[in-house]
Amino acid sequence: MKKIIKNGTIATAADTYQADILIENEIITMIGKDLSAEGAEIIDAKGAYIFPGGIDPHTHLDMPFGGTTTKDDYETGTIAAAYGGTTTVIDFCLTEKGAPLKKSIETWHEKASEKAAIDYSFHLMISEINDKVLAELPSIIENEGISSFKVFMAYKNVFQADDATLYRTLLQAKELGALVMVHAENGDVIDYLTKQALAEGHTDPIYHALTRPPELEGEATGRAAKLTEMANSQLYVVHVTCEDAVEKITEARNKGVDIWGETCPQYLVLDQTYLEKPNFEGSKYVWSPPLREKRNQEVLWNALKTGQLQTIGSDQCSFDFKGQKDLGREDFTKIPNGGPTIEDRMSILFSEGVKKERITLNQFVDITSTRAAKLFGLFPKKGTIAVGSDADIVIFDQKVERTISADTHHMAVDYNAFEGMKITGEPVSVLSRGQFVIREKQFVGEAGKGQFLKRAKYNTSLESGSEQKLPV
Ligand code: URP
Ligand code: ZN
Ligand code: ZN
Repeated sequence: MKKIIKNGTIATAADTYQADILIENEIITMIGKDLSAEGAEIIDAKGAYIFPGGIDPHTHLDMPFGGTTTKDDYETGTIAAAYGGTTTVIDFCLTEKGAPLKKSIETWHEKASEKAAIDYSFHLMISEINDKVLAELPSIIENEGISSFKVFMAYKNVFQADDATLYRTLLQAKELGALVMVHAENGDVIDYLTKQALAEGHTDPIYHALTRPPELEGEATGRAAKLTEMANSQLYVVHVTCEDAVEKITEARNKGVDIWGETCPQYLVLDQTYLEKPNFEGSKYVWSPPLREKRNQEVLWNALKTGQLQTIGSDQCSFDFKGQKDLGREDFTKIPNGGPTIEDRMSILFSEGVKKERITLNQFVDITSTRAAKLFGLFPKKGTIAVGSDADIVIFDQKVERTISADTHHMAVDYNAFEGMKITGEPVSVLSRGQFVIREKQFVGEAGKGQFLKRAKYNTSLESGSEQKLPV
């Protein structure tokens, strides 16, 4: 079981160079010029870039939400991810108040284990802190290998946790070695504004955006950052959309607070006017936080370039237009929040970012893969091309031009949020632990072959490139 990838240009977060890669079984065992090995299959990657497999740190697969369940499950979602060059997803495991955390983790394992075509891990939602939760958390990190906790500051009466819960989660995370993730929007004020809008008879999708203004994302981001500073803990802000939030993250980082920010493809290329599309088409673009005024796009690109934001998650949370988004035809608050993005995450960042010279090629690799591996305890097993790393590899045609469309995508959902967008660059072949999952643009993998990844504790010294100790 040997393969040699020849003639490609390897790009990591640090370097771009030409070399061959020898893969033995699941692992990269040699990188160098003119490699040969008896019996090895030769893969010619002439003219292509070779990237480490993408890591999508933010997905919702087979997740109940908004009175329905996401259309894409672990099978369709991870196959679509692989087509897009992603070889690891970290999905959000929902929890129920009063129920053991381990029970929720078991439920998520059941959703994934026989369906995932690529490797996967879970973040764990925390909605309450009490003696039972406190007793369970150490084992979640040590034994389950889950070293990131998610707290929602919005979705009142659904997922929202109060500030004390966030603060206590931050304290626990510091003590135990986990990274706290927040959905940062002020859920209480949003609740008030949405009720007011409905009382005034406003039911159209655009009111989703108008009742969740950027100030409320900025306010919640600043609040979470301040609580992180007080707790001397660590924070990762998911799906950052706007200048108000970037400013708060930058301010805290400048003070030395250990805070990280993620944005998503939709916020980089779509804007609030999409919610005004006629015939209820605006519902396809209902995300929380919402799409923003166009001027925020350059703020986000600039934050990726300067390192104030460090990662891109898809926030894949797909619902069909017909039969799911439809639930909110008469009332925008009933439109399931989220959209299909898992497949196009990397190609959009390459085309709009690297090709348009907003970010460098090495930044692209860092943002789509390496940084997430470091922050979420997977480096250097995942997130780089190095001897000893898993052979999760993308062979990427940087020149091909194509148009994104639901007619050709591989997600199960009935529309594509980026329909009609012309982009440059596409994965040709993708390997997961040394096996082709995509070969010449065809899926050749198998549902259920993806493995659950136990992750190491949060470790800030990783910038030096030191190895993370993964739980056994
Ligand atoms: O609209 C969104 N983002 N849906 C998924 C759930 C979340 O808030 O991330
Ligand atoms: Zn969210
Ligand atoms: Zn999300």
